[in-house]
Amino acid sequence: MSDKATLEINGNKHEFPLIVGTENEVAIDIKTLRGVTGGVTTIDAGYKNTGSCESEITFLDGEKGILRYRGYSIEELAEEADFLEVAYLLIFGELPTKEQHDKFHADIKSKSIVDDDVRKIIDAFPKSAHPMGVLSSLTSALTAFNPSSVNVDSEEDMYNSVVKILGKFPVLVAWTMRKKQGLPLDYGSNTLGYVENVLKMMFKQPNEKYVQNKIIVDALDKLLILHADHEQNCSTSTVRIVGSSHAGLFASLSAGISALWGPLHGGANQAVLEMLEAIKEDGGDTKKYMAKAKDKNDPFRLMGFGHRVYKNFDPRARIIKKAADEVLADLGVEDPILEIAKGLEQEALNDDYFVKRKLYPNVDFYSGIIYRAMGIPTDMFTVMFALGRLPGWIAQWREMRLRKEPIGRPRQLYVGETLRPFKKLEKR
Ligand code: CMC
Repeated sequence: MSDKATLEINGNKHEFPLIVGTENEVAIDIKTLRGVTGGVTTIDAGYKNTGSCESEITFLDGEKGILRYRGYSIEELAEEADFLEVAYLLIFGELPTKEQHDKFHADIKSKSIVDDDVRKIIDAFPKSAHPMGVLSSLTSALTAFNPSSVNVDSEEDMYNSVVKILGKFPVLVAWTMRKKQGLPLDYGSNTLGYVENVLKMMFKQPNEKYVQNKIIVDALDKLLILHADHEQNCSTSTVRIVGSSHAGLFASLSAGISALWGPLHGGANQAVLEMLEAIKEDGGDTKKYMAKAKDKNDPFRLMGFGHRVYKNFDPRARIIKKAADEVLADLGVEDPILEIAKGLEQEALNDDYFVKRKLYPNVDFYSGIIYRAMGIPTDMFTVMFALGRLPGWIAQWREMRLRKEPIGRPRQLYVGETLRPFKKLEKR
């Protein structure tokens, strides 16, 4: 294969180098395009064909349904690893030794105290506030309480910011839920594993001892691993671009949380469950909703279906579907919503509209059913996604800083008015 791509504009030929990734993906390096062509730029709305960076963190092949973190398959990691090992792997590039794992966890625990004044901020939110908005605000507010987290000139400064946020974020997640439920805020316990502690902080009743349920701990661990990174998706690109201005880690993450909130991204898990509930309330007529999803005059989309990159199947959805069956059986939960979901999936998989457009269930289609079985309220589903995605965001932000990437600043093609004279107010 040639190592150059040639572009001809107005009879002039320009050559651009081809870059080949470790999985043999090919990219055209157009860094010099504007310079050599005298200002010609590219347009790619939604970045469907544009690579924003080179990255060593996550590989995914949408045609083959492959997802790997740092070279390890998602199937193996979900089966064998725990969430903290995966977080370490994503952020630092290698699986931790036992010693590194223990030190990492100890450092996280030592930084997990959230300033008590943050409670005052939580108190100011109405109970009706969506937890994602609250979480985004609280994460941003952490910068005010930890100003040293912004200037990260050394790897040590960066490490301190990383363990701080991994310690404090689960506290904010749990407090966001407890505040809405009118429960006193809980600090968890440093004697527990990372995921066990999250569950205790969320669910401990003030008048009862919290007893861990291994099925729930394992299921949450697996869900968090499955969500931990997904290369340059909307929220991750947001984190990288905000961080590229050298805004601090917490501010960048807060922006990422806002991006994740939308129903076309992480917010889809909440939207899926609301959709399944609506179908159930409506008598379980899945065909009616299939017809709505296909009707171009109806804004309704089948939530939890389709993906920008996966065009055959989403490997995470396969793992989650199996886990949903197991968790519901283990917990003895019979949820009619699961049957509606399976019915809808079967219909979509056999429907021309969905087959032609390569629309398959994505990670969000079955995750809500497991969250619900665990007792997590529907409006907290996207918050759980954020908790899982945290190590991925951190890893991508850290990589962007260590590679000294330039500030993110896309070009545009201006299609507005050309120069025109100003008219005074009284003459308009
Ligand atoms: N239901 C009905 N039609 C759909 C759907 C859907 N869920 N998704 C895509 N289409 C149609 C779309 O109307 C278009 O049809 P046509 O070619 O006739 O105009 C075609 O499929 C291509 O869709 P697109 O919107 O151009 O594709 P995209 O890559 O820009 O969007 C997506 C990807 C995930 C935003 C989209 O599939 C969608 O809105 N899905 C529902 C929301 C969802 O489940 N999001 C979670 C994504 S996975 C987790 C995450 O990212 O956080």
